[in-house]
Amino acid sequence: MRALICLISFLITAIPIIGSADSYLLNPKQILDVETGKLIQSKVLVTDGKIMAISNSFKASEDLKVINLPDLTLLPGLMDAHVHLIGNTELKGMERLSESSYLSTIYGVKNAQDTLMAGFTTVRNVGASNYSDVALKQAIAKLAVLGPTLLVSGPPLGITGGHCDNNTLPYDFKHGDDGVADGPWEIRKKVRENRKYGADLIKFCATGGVLSKNTNLGTTQYTADEMEAIVDEAHNRDMKVAAHAHGLDGIKAAILAGVDSVEHASLIDEETIELAKTKGVFLSMDVYVSDFILGEGAKQGIPEYSLNKERQVGKKQRENFQKAVKANAKIVFATDAGIYPHGKNARQFKYMVRWGMTPLQAIQAATINTASLFGVPNIGKIKESFEADIIGVKGNPLEDITSLEAVEFVMNNGIVIKQ
Ligand code: ARG
Repeated sequence: MRALICLISFLITAIPIIGSADSYLLNPKQILDVETGKLIQSKVLVTDGKIMAISNSFKASEDLKVINLPDLTLLPGLMDAHVHLIGNTELKGMERLSESSYLSTIYGVKNAQDTLMAGFTTVRNVGASNYSDVALKQAIAKLAVLGPTLLVSGPPLGITGGHCDNNTLPYDFKHGDDGVADGPWEIRKKVRENRKYGADLIKFCATGGVLSKNTNLGTTQYTADEMEAIVDEAHNRDMKVAAHAHGLDGIKAAILAGVDSVEHASLIDEETIELAKTKGVFLSMDVYVSDFILGEGAKQGIPEYSLNKERQVGKKQRENFQKAVKANAKIVFATDAGIYPHGKNARQFKYMVRWGMTPLQAIQAATINTASLFGVPNIGKIKESFEADIIGVKGNPLEDITSLEAVEFVMNNGIVIKQ
């Protein structure tokens, strides 16, 4: 016990946290109002982790630390609805099977820090075994390590042999992933278990996937009554539900079952986009990652069967994203970071703009819309009484969306992380 306390206090003192949640006066070039797209010349007063006021007339006071950021445009901290922080992203192919969950959690600490340094102040981790995501979330919340505020799913639910199971090991190993559950009652128990061990939301696999062995993108996983059991049990516990789905039938079934977001949504059609709109479901489409998988995947040890599936789905996903944008569907910024190195999440912005969004819409997807999907009302805006999650970039992101790839200033919960 004593050794544990020593270790924890060492960790707490060894991490370089710049400043603490005191009073700050941020004095930038301008502030981007992400609701209207207006650029405002104003200062921001931050006290105890909250935005207290936005104004130009502040009295100087001794305990107010002034931070001059004359070149920077401030905007709310960015959010990503779909990341995988746990694990070493450099491991190739089968090497991943030999990574213990202790080791993958330690890499998660590094990945979380890289993500926060890149300006992402709240992210959703969708799928981790052994509740290592819960541990990471707790350590970040206690400021023992640096990272974004996390919403975590714990083990993702999936059918035996589906995308959320591990299908690489033969029968001899008797290995199934933590979240495998078949039939409504097994499923309900798994949801309850996830809640018990600290998950904030439920992720489940509604179709096959690109990176799994022996699964088809078009094949639905789980029956309608199984999906309904997931949603019913999760919503009863105030947990949102994120459904991984590439194929149209699985997307439709998940929406009809009442999920809150469809992840990937690659082969969605116009009719189903309308269905998502009427049901208030967010589309969480990772429109950058395909370039990484097809460009770097072979070198990274991604097997040919996965590259082949990616070739079938990558371009269609972007075309369908464009349709969803045109139809004014609810879209959140979601990258699947973890397939590629963490901290590069913002690369996706220019793809969202290339495929139909205005820069302001892309920024809203990563601020206002994510806050709404996450069910956290006081994040995603630079506004009085909101959390002081604030970033700064050179130039005007409405003119050059790639400025978000080089975030110069990061404040999370009122703590200066990067300056
Ligand atoms: N985790 C996802 C899967 O294996 C990645 C899909 C990436 N491809 C894409 N076009 N979004 O299915």
